Amino acid sequence: MKSAPKYNFLIMAAAFSAALLVGAALPNNAQAERPSFKNEILPILTKHCSECHVKGGQGEKASGLDLTSYEGTMKGTSHGPIVVPGDAFLSNMMVLIEGRAGPKLKMPHGRKDLTRWEKTLIRRWINRGAQDN
Ligand code: HEC
Repeated sequence: MKSAPKYNFLIMAAAFSAALLVGAALPNNAQAERPSFKNEILPILTKHCSECHVKGGQGEKASGLDLTSYEGTMKGTSHGPIVVPGDAFLSNMMVLIEGRAGPKLKMPHGRKDLTRWEKTLIRRWINRGAQDN
């Protein structure tokens, strides 16, 4: 077929433009790439965890874990830290949120799971050093 090369070129050109369009439509959001504790993480903890993990709450009384501040989050439970900066996989916080320690230990206890996006933000924040940013 004589017209094939030209046809291929058109397809490639179309695919390339489509890729450009998709690229432009994706969120180019520095905050999502580098979540901040104050703006992204704390609101998630407030929504899903602070009810129990606040001074005097059932989670805080049982484990010593207060998730209402950066200091409390990094201090962890009475047994030690739950966040390993740079390693979300080893961080107990992610182990429990993802249910990797079993359904009974899944956090939040008896409540709706975090959304995939909320988990992604926390994972990224930990993997990028769990900073007070
Ligand atoms: C309905 C109450 C409740 C909510 C909401 C809750 N927790 Fe807990 N959490 C507890 C209790 C109670 C404990 C004590 C240990 C247990 O019973 O498993 C605990 C313990 C923990 C521990 C320590 C487990 C250990 O190794 O000792 C972590 C980490 C934790 N919670 C994280 C979270 C996170 C993160 C959230 C929010 C996504 C959350 N929790 C939401 C009640 C809650």
